[in-house]
Amino acid sequence: MNDLTRIDAGNHEVIVSDGLATALRDVFIKEQDPSGPYLVLVDEHTHQHCFRRLFELQGVMYHPLVIGAGESSKKLETVERICQIMMERKANRQTLLVNLGGGVVSDIGGMVASVFMRGIRYVNVPTSLLAMTDAAIGGKTGVDLHGYKNILGTFHPPLKTIVHPGFLKSLPEKQWKEGLVETWKHALIGDGSLWQKLIRDPISFDYEHRSNRKTSDWITQSISVKGRIVQQDPLEKGVRKHLNFGHTVAHALEAWSYNHDDYIMTHGQAVAIGLVCEAYVSQKLLGLEIQVVEELKSLVKTNLPALKINPESFTFLLSAMRKDKKSDGHGLNCVLLEQVGAPQFCMDLSDEHFLESFTYFNDF
Ligand SMILES: NC(=O)c1ccc[n+]([C@@H]2O[C@H](COP(=O)([O-])OP(=O)(O)OC[C@H]3O[C@@H](n4cnc5c(N)ncnc54)[C@H](O)[C@@H]3O)[C@@H](O)[C@H]2O)c1
Ligand SMILES: [Zn+2]
Repeated sequence: MNDLTRIDAGNHEVIVSDGLATALRDVFIKEQDPSGPYLVLVDEHTHQHCFRRLFELQGVMYHPLVIGAGESSKKLETVERICQIMMERKANRQTLLVNLGGGVVSDIGGMVASVFMRGIRYVNVPTSLLAMTDAAIGGKTGVDLHGYKNILGTFHPPLKTIVHPGFLKSLPEKQWKEGLVETWKHALIGDGSLWQKLIRDPISFDYEHRSNRKTSDWITQSISVKGRIVQQDPLEKGVRKHLNFGHTVAHALEAWSYNHDDYIMTHGQAVAIGLVCEAYVSQKLLGLEIQVVEELKSLVKTNLPALKINPESFTFLLSAMRKDKKSDGHGLNCVLLEQVGAPQFCMDLSDEHFLESFTYFNDF
């Protein structure tokens, strides 16, 4: 069970291993005096559920730096506070920071590593499905500013990302589903065989099966899609934009939900709706098979709570999509699919098919 898979993500490597100690040894022994000390950034949950698992690699000294769990920690004050504690602990330019947690921990820890003493090395050890397949790969770091997500950030790749699916045992089901949606996206933009697995063998992706051997296999496939894209375009000047499939609509939905609803739509739910809408527009404009759109809609229906797009939001959504961070500020730009595995960045699209797609989504 100690297999170790290596995935090249361009400026760093991702290791997927069921044997945590083997994977840690692979990095730590080669990179630094194992007597450390290693500063480990955790949030309160990963401190409780995951931190002690690091001790499977014996003889290494770990010191936890604990932050509050959740998106609200993603702010500059947290970066400053961590840097201050690191100075008190006599961290220096040789220090290796370990980010043990979900995407919030890897985004903040990556940012700390990029600015502390003008940049130190760090290793991501993701513990949520979303961080394993997405956030902890590719070297984008960041924090939020006054409610605007990831407005402050850097490109600073980790030395390695170590993915140990065993951490998923303690992950709550809600977080599992959040991560699964990004794997649907990876399958659609870059891996037809993963898409077929999702459709033909949905049981393998159930929360109850998160510790199965098969889980490591599809997680590896999902990581490979992101790794391949990041490798081609580390600074998001071209093909990396394909990772934004589903997100043009999703970001607009999140903005509406943030401003109008008591209930804030989660990122995963917004992306799930966005994938269906953008697949629908892909069918209209680029000839994506309608069967794919229907399969996707049914995945969303069976895996997520009943979701609807508020008809009062339609006009707001279209205008927000024109202002998306990934857009140029004028036309409506969006990644669409010609077929599974063949995304395209399309510019200056008209509203018409997006409007239809909102109704199509609501019409379950
Ligand atoms: N840098 C990137 O390229 C990139 C890409 C996608 C998302 N992100 C960022 O990632 C963040 C979302 O990541 P997330 O969904 O992992 O959120 P998160 O880090 O907040 O984790 C979700 C919750 O699960 C808990 N958790 C994580 N692993 C656990 C485990 N094994 N056992 C028990 N509890 C566990 C966390 O404590 C937290 O409460 C967002 O801030 C997003 O902007 C970054
Ligand atoms: Zn996303």
